[in-house]
Amino acid sequence: MSERLLLNVLRGQTGTRMPIWMMRQAGRYLPEYRQTRAQAGSFLDLCYNPELACEVTLQPIRRFGFDGSILFSDILVVPHALGQDVRFEEGIGPILPAMGVEEIDAMIARFGDDPSSFDRHLDPVIETVERLRAALPDEVTLLGFCGAPWTVATYMVGGRGSPDQAKARLFALQKPDAFARLIDLLVKASERYLSRQIEAGVDAVQIFDSWAGSLSPSSYERWTVDPIKRMTAGLRRSHADTPVIGFAKGAMHDLGRFVAETGVQTVGLDWTIDVAAARKQVPSSMVTQGNIDPQLMIVGGAALDAAVDRMKEGAAGLPHVANLGHGITPDGRIENVERFIARVREGS
Ligand code: CP3
Repeated sequence: MSERLLLNVLRGQTGTRMPIWMMRQAGRYLPEYRQTRAQAGSFLDLCYNPELACEVTLQPIRRFGFDGSILFSDILVVPHALGQDVRFEEGIGPILPAMGVEEIDAMIARFGDDPSSFDRHLDPVIETVERLRAALPDEVTLLGFCGAPWTVATYMVGGRGSPDQAKARLFALQKPDAFARLIDLLVKASERYLSRQIEAGVDAVQIFDSWAGSLSPSSYERWTVDPIKRMTAGLRRSHADTPVIGFAKGAMHDLGRFVAETGVQTVGLDWTIDVAAARKQVPSSMVTQGNIDPQLMIVGGAALDAAVDRMKEGAAGLPHVANLGHGITPDGRIENVERFIARVREGS
């Protein structure tokens, strides 16, 4: 076994202290992030600047000593590398020109003709991974990531974020064949991108399906479970030793089937399920990750302590990675992050 605690637990090791990292741990709740972000210019400029992206990835490691470090980038660099325009607007979030069937087929043809231009676009992110592995303390596990095909596609056809992903659901129902072609493209491109991250030095990868919760059961099977299954199977063939974390936010109703069908080694939990209840649905060797409500990073105090204790009890003796149930928000408080970490590590 390596000296990397988080990596060992992601491989199923038990009997260690519980490792901890936090989704969106590099972000606007940190003054040092806001400072580097201002220096970089736009958000995408920061994602494509290996020196500054490496710096913001390291900031939460320096400040808090997390066991895991997640590459600083965004899920939308994939559509950007596939040739779609992507902008981030202050106070709104990502904005893309919504794609129709013609644009989808043109994108598929371009990628088929010359996948190396996709790779070249993402070279700066791969350089960030290489710099990170060299700069991180040896015992810190480095995580790579990408968005799951469904979540990325909601932005590509919807044009921006929305509470219910209505535009993407409508598109998938009205034009299922074109939508399936887009999903297939994203499976291929994302798997290729994750493989490069692994070859550049990440220890494990997380696939974020942040909007899985808006799908009906049959659409969930087709657009969340099946694409993640194909990506995981591809990565198993090329990089058998690299653990895959699958996080289908909002879809905590059928975890047993999610893990059995997708083949992921770790399942991310949002805050709507008890860790104890989740553990009953999955094999005992399965690794779970999560799942403190990010709002508790604003509230702190006894409510935060109680949630951490409940998480720890639910996972006692089983492989579990402490994390939030989704990303920390810009109004999350640093003192509460410190309290979260201390409470997880207390008594172990
Ligand atoms: O976790 C980390 O610290 C690594 C960095 C990371 C970011 N985005 C940085 C970011 C990761 C893993 C992501 C993933 C991501 N991006 C997801 C999946 C996870 C999730 O949170 O659901 C999604 C859906 C996106 C798309 C995205 N990026 C949105 C909707 C937004 C706008 C919302 C917001 O918070 O402003 C972003 C922007 C973004 N990505 C920021 C950061 C730090 C904030 C932008 C800024 O600094 O101006």
